[in-house]
Amino acid sequence: MKIISLAAHKGGVGKTLLTASLAVLAQQDCETEEGEAGKGKVAMFDLDPQGSLTAWYNARQRDGPILVAPMLRTLSLRLYALNRKGVRYVFIDTPPGHSEYIAKAMNAADLVIVPVRPGELDYAAVQRTMQTVLFWEEPYLALPNAGLFRSRAMGELVRRLDADGQDRLPPVHHRVDLPLRSGLTLTETQPDSAGVSIGAQTGTGIGVQ
Ligand SMILES: Nc1ncnc2c1ncn2[C@@H]1O[C@H](COP(=O)(O)OP(=O)(O)O)[C@@H](O)[C@H]1O
Ligand SMILES: [Mg+2]
Repeated sequence: MKIISLAAHKGGVGKTLLTASLAVLAQQDCETEEGEAGKGKVAMFDLDPQGSLTAWYNARQRDGPILVAPMLRTLSLRLYALNRKGVRYVFIDTPPGHSEYIAKAMNAADLVIVPVRPGELDYAAVQRTMQTVLFWEEPYLALPNAGLFRSRAMGELVRRLDADGQDRLPPVHHRVDLPLRSGLTLTETQPDSAGVSIGAQTGTGIGVQ
C-alpha cells in the first residue's frame, strides 16, 4: 500500500482538489488493471477540520475512492487496517498552518506532494513546507499548480523550483469552471482541455513503481 499525503503550510494552493483528483485517477488505474476487483482499492483521509474533501465526497454522484473518517489519534491503526484489507493507495488531505495534522500525515506517507501556486508569497510559504518534510526525512515532490497555461508566472515558478533543485511533478494548469462542490475532479470536468495531462504526469510521479 502506498500512502501519499498532500501538504502545504499555505491554504488555497490546491491540496484538497489535487487529493481528490489523484485519488480518482488512482482508482481508475486500479479498475483498469483489476476490473471489478479494483473497486475499493483507493482510500482518502480528510484530516482538515474544515472538511472540504468530505464535502466534495458527499457531492460526488459517481463511483470513486472511498473516504475514511478522520481520526488523528487512530490514523496509524486505520492505515494498518486498510492495508490488511488490500487497499493499494491512500491519499491524505491536510489543513494549512503548523499543525499536528501535517506532521502526522507526513510521517505516515511514502510520498508527500507539496502543491505550490505561482507567486512570491506562495514560494516563501512552500520553502517552509519543504523544510518540514526534510526535517521528517520523507520523500517529497513539489507540484506547481493553478498557474495559467503558458503564463510567465507559471514558467517562472517551474524554473525557480528547478534552479533550487526541488524535485517536482510537471505543472497542473489552472482549469476554469472547477468548483470543488461539483464532486468532480481536474480530469473529469473538461476532459479535452490542456490540463488533463495531469493523469499521465502524476502517473509517473506517484505511480505503481
Ligand atoms: N488547477 C486548478 N485549476 C482551477 N482551480 C483550482 C486548481 N487548483 C485549485 N483550484 C481551486 O482553488 C481553490 C482552492 O483549492 P483547494 O484544493 O481547496 O486548496 P487547499 O486545499 O490547499 O486549501 C478551490 O476553489 C479549487 O477548486
Ligand atoms: Mg483543503
